[in-house]
Amino acid sequence: MFSLHRKSIVMKKYFLILLSIILLFSCSKKSAIDQQLNNKVDSVLGLMTLDEKIGQMVLYASDGDITGSSIKSGLLDEIRKGNCGNILNAYTTAHTRKLQKIAVEESRLKIPLLFGYDVIHGFKTIFPISLGESCSWDLEAIEKGARIAAIESAASGVNWTFAPMVDISVEPRWGRVSEGAGEDPFLGSKIAAARVRGFQGKENDLADSLTILACVKHFAAYGAPQAGRDYNTVDMSQRVFLDTYLPPYKAAIDAGAMSIMTSFNELDGVPSTGNKYLLTDLLRGEMGFKGLVVTDYTSINEMVNHGVAENDAEAGLLAVKAGVDMDMQGEVYFKYLKKQVKDGLVDEKLIDEAVRRVLRVKFLLGLFDDPYKYCNEDQEKRLVFAPEHLETAFEVAKKSLVLLKNENQVLPLKKGDKIAVIGALAASKRDLLGSWKAYGDTMNMNSFLDEFKIYNGNTNVIYAEGCKKMGENISGFGAAIAAGRRADKIVMVIGEDAEWSGEAASRTSLQVPGVQTELLEKLKTLNKPIVVVLMNGRPLDLTRENQFADAILETWYAGTMGGKAITQVLFGEYNPSGKLTMTFPRNLGQVPIFYYQKNTGRPSYLSNPKYKSRYIDCPNDPLFPFGFGLSYTNFEYSEITLSATELVEKGELTAKVTVKNSGKYDGEEVVQLYVRDLVGSITRPVKELKGFEKVLLKAGNSKEITFKITPDMLAFHRLDMSFGTEQGDYKLYIGGNSRDVKQTSFKLK
Ligand code: BGC
Repeated sequence: MFSLHRKSIVMKKYFLILLSIILLFSCSKKSAIDQQLNNKVDSVLGLMTLDEKIGQMVLYASDGDITGSSIKSGLLDEIRKGNCGNILNAYTTAHTRKLQKIAVEESRLKIPLLFGYDVIHGFKTIFPISLGESCSWDLEAIEKGARIAAIESAASGVNWTFAPMVDISVEPRWGRVSEGAGEDPFLGSKIAAARVRGFQGKENDLADSLTILACVKHFAAYGAPQAGRDYNTVDMSQRVFLDTYLPPYKAAIDAGAMSIMTSFNELDGVPSTGNKYLLTDLLRGEMGFKGLVVTDYTSINEMVNHGVAENDAEAGLLAVKAGVDMDMQGEVYFKYLKKQVKDGLVDEKLIDEAVRRVLRVKFLLGLFDDPYKYCNEDQEKRLVFAPEHLETAFEVAKKSLVLLKNENQVLPLKKGDKIAVIGALAASKRDLLGSWKAYGDTMNMNSFLDEFKIYNGNTNVIYAEGCKKMGENISGFGAAIAAGRRADKIVMVIGEDAEWSGEAASRTSLQVPGVQTELLEKLKTLNKPIVVVLMNGRPLDLTRENQFADAILETWYAGTMGGKAITQVLFGEYNPSGKLTMTFPRNLGQVPIFYYQKNTGRPSYLSNPKYKSRYIDCPNDPLFPFGFGLSYTNFEYSEITLSATELVEKGELTAKVTVKNSGKYDGEEVVQLYVRDLVGSITRPVKELKGFEKVLLKAGNSKEITFKITPDMLAFHRLDMSFGTEQGDYKLYIGGNSRDVKQTSFKLK
């Protein structure tokens, strides 16, 4: 016994020594590689004139898509002269090869170009919009989506994507919520990291010709514009910023993202593009970011409008001193930086640092070894829009749909039922692609209506447009009602035009536009089961639709394969498993509404309803809470069993719950873990998501789900702004959404 014990101690010791040797070896190997890379970078830097250095610090739009004014003329000549080292919105091997050829064959130093593009949810094979994809809570699926987007763009000449967009938002008026992962920092961080792994590859091997450089955006807190108006002022406490808005940027950087984009907004009075605290102290200092910082489109120039610089030149000084390496489209560095260095206003060392960071990513991408590695025509033909990519887009699309209501089991539909399909969106291909559709087009894809007819048989589908997405025209109502009369069931597709979300698409109403809901109300009088299929890019106020519809399926903009995915879910070929990642309010007046709110001193549940934190004309709770989504089956949760009721420093608790599929269909459930810190040195949210697991359960089967809780999961910025935990009582909740949960308690010692 004794010698066995001794033996195991000795073995442990050897193991530890071996481990330290391996670690030491791999660290020194890593620093040797870093050193080699630095030497390479410096060997190029040493050859560069000041003009050529500044040329690496600019990024100009090619003649592709633009999101602001295109102000650069004579682009090819600038590449030739070494004045332009980076291009955005150029794609296809033919186009990028032409530009790259000028850079590496006609410029003095032959430095290859970076090609950036907004590959947000697919390149040509379009996946669901990012908000929709986030509702899958399926990190593997999300990573695959980004992987395929990277493969297709890399095969088409692009080596840099302006994604992932990781801005937390509780502001449905803001159109750009469609590009993010919703309201929650914990889930948002997991998704941010998954997307970076997808773009840059699991091993973060940028040299692989099918990985591309990720760009985390928009740094920082762009998702909290006042009144939901795009580009508007952001003002929040430092604590809220650090605990709620910062984590996804950090997660993306920790996952290896090598570039980051500044945001358009100001934060505490300082525009991000000139914000030294954000870009240098926090990002490079505390967060240890080693990659390059690029501005958003002309955001240096916009600091003049913000009112922190008198002119572009002054704005450029703010940016370069704050830590901006690359000026997107603004021509400020190009026009003023050289003179500012000569006049002693900017230290050339600052320029050298910025250029080093740009050259470094070009080396990491392997562009110095082979500048045409992303211009392989055969690969482009084979990989862009490949059948297996479409198959994955179909799988991911199914997972992103959220069933919000299903009264009397109207869904799934039965094959062969006579069904009236109503609504302009039903027949639209363009809308399925959502905003930021990159190179996606409507060729070679089907609308929802096409797919619905293929599945259910042409003769069993009666289509009537009824009305447009917008406008007041009701002349089509008669035909739609006639169609409804002839059918057993009605499927009405309503929502927003795809361009109503995304950039510069803020709204002051969250209602379904035009007369779509009016028509729904009319159809309701036919007394036939009505299924509403929603296409939209933000949480909407669905209070009226909820009155008229028996079932509601939220489909976002589900991508190239969206029509087929929606059809299959409606007919029960796939059991919906998506869960909301943003709260759906009852009306706009409740906004901002999110599940991690504070309790307040007068919570509404206390007796005497008058002087409470409540509305007099509407309940406090949302129509559909965060984490909510139905299935065609039912899931039952057991009570929670905790391994102990006390958690000590460096200790661990396990929380177990048994989930049973008690319905008739196999199905997936997202089991969610929340905690609440009951008393703190500052007030704490009523719930915070701390874990989740998506499980597939066959009908009748059960599974025990285990969550580990460690003290670090409970850390926050305390009263004195230090980051850490506080002892005391906690509640722990597990359930299928943020509202309907089982609960227990524990103490942090
Ligand atoms: C957007 C960015 C985008 C950039 C380049 C800007 O207007 O805010 O998200 O990456 O344009 O297209």
